[in-house]
Amino acid sequence: MAEKILEMRNVTKRFGKLVANRSVNFDLERGEVHALLGENGAGKTTLMNCLYGIYNPEEGEILLHGKPLKLSNPKDAIAHNIGMVHQHFMLVPPLTVLQNIVLGQECRITPMNLSRARAQVEELCEKYHFQLELDTKVADLSVGAQQRVELVKALYRGADILILDEPTAVLTPPEVEGLFEILQQFVSMGKSIIIISHKLWEVKRISNRVTVLRSGEAVSTVMTKDVEEADLAAMMVGKRVSLEYEKTPVTTAQNILELKDVCAKGAHLASSLKHVSMHIREGEVLGIAGVDGNGQLELSEVIMGLLPTQSGSVYYRGEEITKMPTRKRIEQGFAHIPEERMTQGLVMNFSASENMIINCYDRPPFTKNHLFNSRQVKENGKKLVEEYDVRPRDPDALARSFSGGNQQKIIIAREFAQDPRLVVAVQPTRGLDIGASDFVHQKLLEQKEKGAGVLLISADLDEVLAVSDRVLVINEGEIMGEFVPGEIDYTEIGLMMGGTKRTNSKAGETA
Ligand SMILES: Nc1ncnc2c1ncn2[C@@H]1O[C@H](COP(=O)(O)OP(=O)(O)OP(=O)(O)O)[C@@H](O)[C@H]1O
Ligand SMILES: [Mg+2]
Repeated sequence: MAEKILEMRNVTKRFGKLVANRSVNFDLERGEVHALLGENGAGKTTLMNCLYGIYNPEEGEILLHGKPLKLSNPKDAIAHNIGMVHQHFMLVPPLTVLQNIVLGQECRITPMNLSRARAQVEELCEKYHFQLELDTKVADLSVGAQQRVELVKALYRGADILILDEPTAVLTPPEVEGLFEILQQFVSMGKSIIIISHKLWEVKRISNRVTVLRSGEAVSTVMTKDVEEADLAAMMVGKRVSLEYEKTPVTTAQNILELKDVCAKGAHLASSLKHVSMHIREGEVLGIAGVDGNGQLELSEVIMGLLPTQSGSVYYRGEEITKMPTRKRIEQGFAHIPEERMTQGLVMNFSASENMIINCYDRPPFTKNHLFNSRQVKENGKKLVEEYDVRPRDPDALARSFSGGNQQKIIIAREFAQDPRLVVAVQPTRGLDIGASDFVHQKLLEQKEKGAGVLLISADLDEVLAVSDRVLVINEGEIMGEFVPGEIDYTEIGLMMGGTKRTNSKAGETA
């Protein structure tokens, strides 16, 4: 039998009345990848936070190499060679990559410490084939690169047990492959990994065993090779979920939004928009496919008025709005589901119901005759958590206390409650479980049915293909081509994503 290096026995963790983990048993063997699966809010992150010393479980015990382990904080966990890469990164943006890696490990960041660390970090990068520019500020990195920094940081601290909380949610397909190679290398050295993911094919591909959590309880642990993806889905939600939608054809030729020859400066050269022309019709979902960091974010920001254009113009229902402030756009029916839910989408220390009105607090029914009506805010919150299945159903709870998927539902509830005419959705299902993703897709399609235009920006190609009426492929800030889902195959799409222009493309045409 394989050596058990870690065991969690009857671990119970409560937040007030809520039982996030109920008497959970979990173990980890030497050299294995153990996947943790479960719906949003099932208690995966909480369980791992107990193992990393962030939370102190009320009941149960943790054994490391058969000996009871008492963890008061993450320092204790790190001292026992347990490393964690969090679902939401914990890097310090103004510091460089190297400074971030060293931070918390050395007592002080001195030039001497840094140069010693540099050599070690460089060695690590070489060993695992990491590409990292150590002197770049973290703020200037793509999310994929930030995640590599988190990973190197954990390895630098000498982790034998690595906990990865949804590490692939922010990665592009090639980055996922790269990560999996690193993980494989890590376990081949006799180390062990616990990985949380909502993507079943990844779990199938990378793990040796799977434990499924449902409503805080561990419902089963199975050998990965003995189960199919569909079995895993059923264990998680108790039903099958498929990614297929009926879409009503777009009937009108009416443009809701149009971009003419727009250029805008991006965070990186590759993400600057270069002469983008496109349009979205009423009742249409326009998908944007592309490798993350190729101008998608900039495109959404130009449309929302968050990033100024350098040249070109933007039209909304026929009127030029190139320089219109964001706030005015929101008043005129723009909805925005931003990429960064924690920094751009929510005020973490506000309650769910407060977050649900921050786009309209100054309008009736929330403000009338300059008077703010907090009872309306509460009622609105109560109604929306019900309608959007936010769990737990507590509109007074702070945004920060909800699981990632439920935070996303709060944003979507707020944006859609205003009956938008144009929805700009950026990675709307990132980190959501299959049930919740399906829910978001249905909601996007509902907006389309109501006649809104929807821009769906996603690094998940399957999602783009399933939901969109029409797709544009973006590469280095340029539109490479346009197609209708089903019209061309993955290879051709992949080529466009890699920078090959589609020859018979209709892109750039402004109907
Ligand atoms: N700090 C906290 N205070 C109060 N409740 C919390 C806190 N952290 C988590 N919870 C609650 O505990 C439950 C489990 O949350 P957790 O973050 O562990 O879920 P998860 O399985 O990681 O979900 P996701 O897939 O969305 O990340 C949820 O109902 C959540 O709202
Ligand atoms: Mg989580």
